[in-house]
Amino acid sequence: MSRRTLFVTTALPYANGPFHIGHIMEYIQADIWVRFQRLQGHTVHFVGADDTHGAPIMLRAEADSITPEELIGRVAESHQRDYARFHLSFDNWYTTHSPENIDLSQSIYRGLKDAGLVYAKAIEQFYDPVKGMFLPDRYIKGECPKCGTKDQYGDACENCGSTYAPTDLKNPYSVLTGVKPELRRSEHLFFRLSDPKVVAFLREWTTATPLQPEVKNKIAEWLGDDETGSKLSDWDISRDAPYFGIEIPDAPGKYFYVWLDAPIGYLASLKNYFDTGKARANPTARETRTFEEFVALDSEVEQYHFIGKDIVYFHTLFWPAMLKFAGRKLPTNVFVHGFIQVSGEKMSKSRGTGLSPQRYLEVGMNPEWLRYYIAAKLNDRVEDFDFTPDDFVARVNSDLVGKLVNIAARSARFIAQSGNKLERGQDFEVRHRISASAAGELIGQYYDRREFGRAIREIMVLADQTNEYYDRMKPWELAREPGTLPRAIEVCSECLDDFRILTILLKPVLPELARGVESFLNIGAQSWVDLPRHLPAGHVINAYAHLMSRVDPKQIDALFDIVPDPSPQPSPSGGGVGAATTVGPVATISIDDFSKVDLRIAKIVNAEHVDGADKLLKLTLDVGDDRHRTVFAGIKSAYKPEDLIGRLTPMVANLAPRKMKFGVSEGMVLAASGDGSGIFLLAPDSGATPGMRVK
Ligand code: MSP
Ligand code: ZN
Repeated sequence: MSRRTLFVTTALPYANGPFHIGHIMEYIQADIWVRFQRLQGHTVHFVGADDTHGAPIMLRAEADSITPEELIGRVAESHQRDYARFHLSFDNWYTTHSPENIDLSQSIYRGLKDAGLVYAKAIEQFYDPVKGMFLPDRYIKGECPKCGTKDQYGDACENCGSTYAPTDLKNPYSVLTGVKPELRRSEHLFFRLSDPKVVAFLREWTTATPLQPEVKNKIAEWLGDDETGSKLSDWDISRDAPYFGIEIPDAPGKYFYVWLDAPIGYLASLKNYFDTGKARANPTARETRTFEEFVALDSEVEQYHFIGKDIVYFHTLFWPAMLKFAGRKLPTNVFVHGFIQVSGEKMSKSRGTGLSPQRYLEVGMNPEWLRYYIAAKLNDRVEDFDFTPDDFVARVNSDLVGKLVNIAARSARFIAQSGNKLERGQDFEVRHRISASAAGELIGQYYDRREFGRAIREIMVLADQTNEYYDRMKPWELAREPGTLPRAIEVCSECLDDFRILTILLKPVLPELARGVESFLNIGAQSWVDLPRHLPAGHVINAYAHLMSRVDPKQIDALFDIVPDPSPQPSPSGGGVGAATTVGPVATISIDDFSKVDLRIAKIVNAEHVDGADKLLKLTLDVGDDRHRTVFAGIKSAYKPEDLIGRLTPMVANLAPRKMKFGVSEGMVLAASGDGSGIFLLAPDSGATPGMRVK
């Protein structure tokens, strides 16, 4: 088999909020495919990044009174934490707000300009005179010009469904300030998508590329043919300041529209991955080429983009056209998926209601259950599918745990009776070699074509066969007599070898389970070539330890009951004293949540009254590092300052500093209080020293 090199991306998520279930669905799809290719021995470079530019992010940061840089920094942390928790194997995660992206975007833009495909034209647009900015369509509302419904967005009416330009709205107003917007002229830069050479190229590229049939049909409508002509209009690629984005060279006050620099972010992430030495260090890749060599026009590297159906236009028309006329390498293919809906309800792109991935993890649900469920639902077409709680529970509990994991649990029982040593029966070779290779071939094709649902169905048929074999051989009866016990061990050894095969076949979907199985079976990391091998007689496995539990319906209730806060930011409160009160319970948190709190032992090196404060004492705390921290604590009613000096107490050391009336408070000390009077500062047992972590 020849070893291929693949460069794979997922769509870059907007950096204005945490992942929603749609993102996770897309990334799981791509990750399964990527892991499958790696298990074939191919080299894959799988990269992502945050899509950080544009008006919504700028305005969102402004509303939160932070800079856009701060906002995207926080979101980046949340995204990276979550993708790791769902076992997504990105090799690099970067940002479009980066020097690499500025360079690449400006250089691609210059290429398009040199090709004669960029021109300037003045256009009229709505402008908010109070805010001092041009308004994107989403920020203008008014009455529908057709049916008169109030409060409709600038592009379409939710009531009658008609589409129009924002300038058609009756009584338009700015969503930002409520004022009537003015029409103003300004010069914009356009990419000449309608140029005959661009249209001709796109017709050729989209014909030659093995895009999905429904994608091809859609594109054919847009591109037309020589007779009908194309429907492509030129693309407005500039935005006027104020805008959070990349400056356009030689055009002061103008920025690239976010959709110009966003796909270039794929290359920026890849370049960052190369330039920081990660590609070279990647043990499965050992890539020695430079970034430019890797993406050179004549490079054999295959480039694939996973995207959702809403952004096909950008990825099959704008993106290849940009690359082509800037003289760069083109994508090998673009894989489009439909949308995941929760119990039939469309989720809103911005609100992402329904199933929160963060909540999913917080209530203790196993990320591999979701990977399995999504795999079972996916095919290679652009179809939407439903997450249905009952269906989810059934597939995980009956199929994944009841059929698959059960093979290991029930077989291991009897093997334990022979000191965990495997034996081999006479019909072993026949039963195994052939079926494993054939299954690997067939199921491998399904994975490769992104027919994951069929792959899962096929694997479950094999699991059924193993369970039937087990039931027919009745090892539990054989094990009762000393004379037939060896036969029971043989049967169970075979079933465990089946289990090993099934685990390899599912490894793209369930990498963590596979690790657990490899350690249980006491074997090295398995890949596709290991399918026809087998566990030899005499091989000693480890004692069976629980591999995967069932979904508890209570978890589903917890998952959907509480509407999670869509914002990833920690609340900005801080300072003072955290009182342990006796009032009702609070929501459950995960160990991950708890470990975000940096609790440390602090020594109170000074305590004093604060002029004008009724409740507060000013504490100076030593937490074992080189700087003392000031904390204002509401404990004046219970403690004299001189009694506190020298005492040890736990403090929250990583609370965001908070500006209070009397100064900045840099943390919080912990105290108990109840309904009655009294505040009781906590103290560690003797032996604790300043700076020790409290866990
Ligand atoms: N930032 C752009 C993409 C730029 S790519 C150079 C964007 N971001 S997004 O956050 O809105 O969407 C990211 C991906 O999630 C897209 O591929 C989109 O189709 C996908 N999904 C958004 N909602 C989805 C579902 N409900 N189901 C499946 N995928 C969905 O678009
Ligand atoms: Zn209407």
